[in-house]
Amino acid sequence: MKRLPRPDGRVRIVPSLLAADFADIRGDLKPLMRAGFDWASIDVMDGHFVPNLSFGPDLVSALKHNGTGKVRLDAHLMVEKPEVYGPVFAAAGADWVVFHVEACRSPRPLIKKLRSLGCGVGVAVKPKTPVKALEPLLAEIDLALVMTVEPGFGGQGFIREMLPKISSLRAAIARNRLKTWLQVDGGVNAETAPLAAGAGADALVAGSAVFGKKNPVSAAKAISRAAQNAFSKSNFFNGTARRAVKAPDAD
Ligand code: DX5
Repeated sequence: MKRLPRPDGRVRIVPSLLAADFADIRGDLKPLMRAGFDWASIDVMDGHFVPNLSFGPDLVSALKHNGTGKVRLDAHLMVEKPEVYGPVFAAAGADWVVFHVEACRSPRPLIKKLRSLGCGVGVAVKPKTPVKALEPLLAEIDLALVMTVEPGFGGQGFIREMLPKISSLRAAIARNRLKTWLQVDGGVNAETAPLAAGAGADALVAGSAVFGKKNPVSAAKAISRAAQNAFSKSNFFNGTARRAVKAPDAD
């Protein structure tokens, strides 16, 4: 079983490779990793679950094994058959495989299968899917993903109506004393990150707000500072560590 980072009160900014330079993803990733942003998200799209096509498992293998050092990768499967492709991405080396509850009639066998392959497991909900589809699974997964855009494309606007869903999941995680990442994805930038983190998200996927900027590292640091400030103020992390959690990448 991989030793994966666990929620520790420090908000993670997770660069989305969908917005990276496809001709030089490794080159785009390296400076971010050197700055401490060592968890990236790979948006996998099959042209059926979402009207777009993107990456396959070979990208995961290439990034895990050719010179990006210890990058952690979550494979966000926006695919119709996660029970088929989940194990493929786990075998390719993904640290977490995140599948959509809307694409999987029986999530528990798939969660079990992915765990048996040694990777972390996440479940995602689209904007129109209520959190009650995900809450019963919280104790069995490592990561819950609330989409804050309609999945399929980067560069969309953050849907603020998702904030109550984030808060509801954060309350369920706290109520059950779970160590589950609460990830959001879509339209995250320096302005919307504090909203998401203030509602309880501690892993923020950001594509265009990072790779679309002249200096992606500074952009990611600015988002990280804004998010950490909001998350800490809301005092969500009420575990044993009450110390002020310093963002690792703050200047
Ligand atoms: C949607 C994708 C995007 C991407 C991030 O299916 O999942 O949300 O990762 O895109 P930005 O950060 O550009 O909205």
